[in-house]
Amino acid sequence: MKALISMLILASFACMLQANQAPKEYPTGEVGRLVKLGEDIVANTDTHPLTKDFVGNKLQCKSCHLKGADGKVGTGEGVSSWVGTAATFPAWSKREKTVQTLQDRSNNCFMRSMNGKRLIIDSEASIAIAAYITWLSEGTTIKMNEKGPWSEHNTKLYPKNVKKFNAIQKKATHQNYLAGQEIYAQKCATCHGTTGAGIPGAFPPLWGKDANGKWLSYNTGAGMSKLDKAAAWVQSNMPLGQGNSLTDQETADVVLYMNAQERAPFDLKEHLLPKEEAGVYNSKVFEEKHTVESNFKILGLDLKQIKNGK
Ligand code: HEC
Ligand code: HEC
Repeated sequence: MKALISMLILASFACMLQANQAPKEYPTGEVGRLVKLGEDIVANTDTHPLTKDFVGNKLQCKSCHLKGADGKVGTGEGVSSWVGTAATFPAWSKREKTVQTLQDRSNNCFMRSMNGKRLIIDSEASIAIAAYITWLSEGTTIKMNEKGPWSEHNTKLYPKNVKKFNAIQKKATHQNYLAGQEIYAQKCATCHGTTGAGIPGAFPPLWGKDANGKWLSYNTGAGMSKLDKAAAWVQSNMPLGQGNSLTDQETADVVLYMNAQERAPFDLKEHLLPKEEAGVYNSKVFEEKHTVESNFKILGLDLKQIKNGK
């Protein structure tokens, strides 16, 4: 009887917690073809013929927009799910100081998270990615976001946790760096490697360069390179399959360690296509530079002191 009751309780919980998932069917015709093309691109971004020239590292969109229980890229339950995302655009973006479309938002991840260049908005690749993400939002009520370029799902998880980690990480010292190094060795290195290079084809790189001197991971303009934003993402998504298992302090420390390592400097201008090719860049901000050091400074932290203790 006890078992039956607990089964009933579990079953009703399962109904309450509606998992993120893709629609059961693809659209037909050309729209369906584009949705499937977009799905292929977000899983193979750095090698796909339509996007490889626009990527400057060894990541794919799926490296951060994780697969969910249904195996579809972007349906993961943690921060950066794409379910419902299309329904929040056009949305305000404080960083670009303009109202951004879904294609603009994806291009920002190309420039920063993928350390690459913006796709041409009219290109098949850009439209295909937007088609795939829009498909994941079918059935969601349209509600444009005036506060930030985030879906309703991510709005619940992202801004408030970024704030929480900002307060914790401001107080970081060399001791937190050492603690982070230890957590990294225990909980991350099996997949991402002690040097952060990952394992090609299986686990994505977190920092550093390959043998030819090419950058492996996201650059210092990416959300993931900011201590507080990365912590919000890591806590809900990592270690893979064990999201929300690290405490706030453990997450803050391991991210302090991860983002103190070598990573591509960001100069906005280098990530725009020539004007005659790319047309207008939908932003009011054209000068933006970041380094690992400056990303620490935002929180009042001295990178050298954090790493070396003096
Ligand atoms: C290194 C990690 C990383 C990679 C790789 C990455 N992104 Fe993102 N992306 C993020 C983070 C972090 C956010 C902000 C968190 C959020 O909004 O949920 C984000 C947000 C987004 C959003 C807005 C989602 C929402 O509802 O809030 C879109 C759309 C998006 N990315 C598209 C892409 C596309 C397309 C690619 C591949 C070309 C890509 N991203 C690759 C980290 C990444
Ligand atoms: C069991 C293996 C595994 C462990 C352990 C693990 N990760 Fe990951 N991690 C992954 C995989 C796989 C992805 C990409 C998901 C995909 O491609 O489907 C990923 C993606 C990431 C990303 C975004 C992509 C990138 O390469 O920048 C970050 C950041 C990250 N992990 C940090 C961590 C941290 C920090 C830890 C330890 C707390 C950790 N991971 C533990 C497997 C793992």
